[in-house]
Amino acid sequence: MTAPATPLMSLTWTDHVTGRHGYLVVDRLVRGVSSGGLRMRQGCTLDEVAGLARGMTMKEALHYNPQGRYIPLGGAKGGIDCDPQDPQAYGVLVRYLRAMRPYIESFWTTGEDLGLTQDLVDRAAEEAGLVSSIQAVYPLLDDETAARRRLADAFAVDVDGIGLDELVGGCGVAESVLAALDRAGVPYEGTRVSVQGLGTMGGATARFLARAGLRVVAVADVKGTVANPEGLDVDALLAARDAYGTVDRSALREADRELPGDAWLSADAEVLVPAAVSYAVDAANQEQITARWIVEAANMPVLPEAEELLARRGITVLPDVVVNSGTNAWWWWTLFGDIDANADEAFAYTRRSMRALIDQMLARAEADGTTPRAAAHAIVADRLPVIAERFGWYR
Ligand SMILES: NC(=O)c1ccc[n+]([C@@H]2O[C@H](COP(=O)([O-])OP(=O)(O)OC[C@H]3O[C@@H](n4cnc5c(N)ncnc54)[C@H](O)[C@@H]3O)[C@@H](O)[C@H]2O)c1
Repeated sequence: MTAPATPLMSLTWTDHVTGRHGYLVVDRLVRGVSSGGLRMRQGCTLDEVAGLARGMTMKEALHYNPQGRYIPLGGAKGGIDCDPQDPQAYGVLVRYLRAMRPYIESFWTTGEDLGLTQDLVDRAAEEAGLVSSIQAVYPLLDDETAARRRLADAFAVDVDGIGLDELVGGCGVAESVLAALDRAGVPYEGTRVSVQGLGTMGGATARFLARAGLRVVAVADVKGTVANPEGLDVDALLAARDAYGTVDRSALREADRELPGDAWLSADAEVLVPAAVSYAVDAANQEQITARWIVEAANMPVLPEAEELLARRGITVLPDVVVNSGTNAWWWWTLFGDIDANADEAFAYTRRSMRALIDQMLARAEADGTTPRAAAHAIVADRLPVIAERFGWYR
């Protein structure tokens, strides 16, 4: 059975204190459970959340490994229409989670996404009376105590001052870039990268790519773009971030330049990594892009019309559903026991899985004569009925 075009359920919540809206979309269940983060941003819409929930269904299915302990869940997503830096934001978050409590307790596992950190989600979830933001999956575990301990231990792992949970996603994005370069026979050394967003995803992606020898020539955050054709000091920028991923400009070196917010897009670079907001690349601004690859660390950063125009110009978009799927998969690999609470093991497993997925997707795109996104969708379409057949929608 294939997934219906409309989500299993979608709802709009209104905060009785501020009048702000929040959304929950459950695209699909597998064994009665779904997975998908919670984002908070001014202007967040139900449509956006529905698109993200569908993307989660795909990410879960793409990581299906019949030999693995982790069995894919369904896809879901939450969204709150509020600026995360608004003084009322935390109260809105707690009330949203309180309202969503029955869903989180029974079938929606969630975590951090744009605008929220896992620490904040955990703190607000506790205040809302939840055991954990992923408690709905506990009944599916063989040994719940050991599994929860393993995940808690993994969250406590810190690498160079950054939590492992904030690095695995970017490790997967970086590996996607490297796999594409390898396939095209392009050396890492000197390949230039421009990144939009230096938060969890963008920051970690920049870190892993710089370590692989690529030159990060531009990064944008909410305050604008910083650039240096000779390469930015990525570690210094990461250390100068606040909790929202905004870089303190006093950390810039003399040769670094401050440019307008959209300058990351037209940077002279081979690889663009949008790692901030959805809909960043549209039909109009795609004209400024000269890169050869756009690697979607963010969810839905490239609009379909833009992707079509980019494809005509020979620019390849590696799609979000594959590229940024590492964080979600890492949670489950760890919880279900495919890997231990160990950074080296997590990075190695993430790299191996992401490379296999990227290779499979690019090979399929070549064979079918389609875009990588169409190829990823085709792989998902093959896989969803297999998962539904084996595990069912409801437990
Ligand atoms: N965090 C995760 O685990 C995860 C996993 C998969 C996908 N994603 C996706 O990656 C994207 C980023 O998520 P995150 O968790 O890294 O967010 P984050 O809040 O940690 O960081 C966001 C970054 O983007 C910057 N930013 C925000 N608005 C901007 C704008 N208009 N222009 C330029 N920069 C802007 C911020 O300054 C910050 O540097 C989102 O689309 C999210 O859905 C996140």
